[in-house]
Amino acid sequence: MNSAARQLVDQVKKLGTLPTVYAKVNELVNDPNCPASKLGAAISNDQVITSMILRLVNSALYGFPNYIDTVTKAVTIIGFKQTRDLVLASSVIDMFKKGQAQDHIDMEGFWKHSIAAAISAKALAAHMAKSDQEAMFTAGLLHDIGRLILFEFTEKLPIKALIAKCQEKELLVYKSERKVLGFTHMDVAEALFVKWNLPPVLKEAAVFHHSPMMAPRFKEEASCIHIADAMAHAMQLGNSTDAFVPMVSQQAWEVLGVPLDKMGAIAKQVKVQYPDLIKIFFQD
Ligand SMILES: [Fe+2]
Ligand SMILES: [Fe+2]
Repeated sequence: MNSAARQLVDQVKKLGTLPTVYAKVNELVNDPNCPASKLGAAISNDQVITSMILRLVNSALYGFPNYIDTVTKAVTIIGFKQTRDLVLASSVIDMFKKGQAQDHIDMEGFWKHSIAAAISAKALAAHMAKSDQEAMFTAGLLHDIGRLILFEFTEKLPIKALIAKCQEKELLVYKSERKVLGFTHMDVAEALFVKWNLPPVLKEAAVFHHSPMMAPRFKEEASCIHIADAMAHAMQLGNSTDAFVPMVSQQAWEVLGVPLDKMGAIAKQVKVQYPDLIKIFFQD
């Protein structure tokens, strides 16, 4: 792991620990005898996470015909591990949504890009052989979190100069990060994921989103986030600071195995779900 990236993550106090509810949920999910009601009760101890989970499962992301009014019902419908991943997504949304808007960084654009990638990843996962839609949603939401952490250090690191130079020279920012900063936003994400002790599939899917074939165990999932990221760029939903659509790896397409003729319908679905998710994210 890159030690400079780890030091950076260690300096951001709000990233210290995930809410206790996540640790508890993780423990219960790993107990094969845990009933859904116990998991539901553990989540219900945290009102903010509970309301976020209910908003997500009742959104266009799922399109369930009936209103789901309790977390226990949500657990029964979407599954244990899937609920845990939504708890993580909700915890991170809550952790960052109150973050100060920064004049030099388009924070709203950043989250819109992350949400678009999350929805795209979930929609792609529905067509993947090993489908774990909630894990892919959460990994999509977190894929550029390293960039968000870098934004916290705009006074100490030459982030603004890096972005400006890349825009002027029409370069992709992530390709210049290592040269200018000594590490990339993927290194920063890795340091955070290790600190939070997140499941390896989430870590690899997010950390290898620009180089999915380098993922040691989860190439399919990293390919999913790689393509979801490109979809968010291509559909111009949000702004990740990169002004150009990153190149899509041909191998990633092959590994992902989603037929090309499904892409029109997937993109359409993303467009329908996006405004609903934006509303959930940006409402108080
Ligand atoms: Fe990225
Ligand atoms: Fe991205």
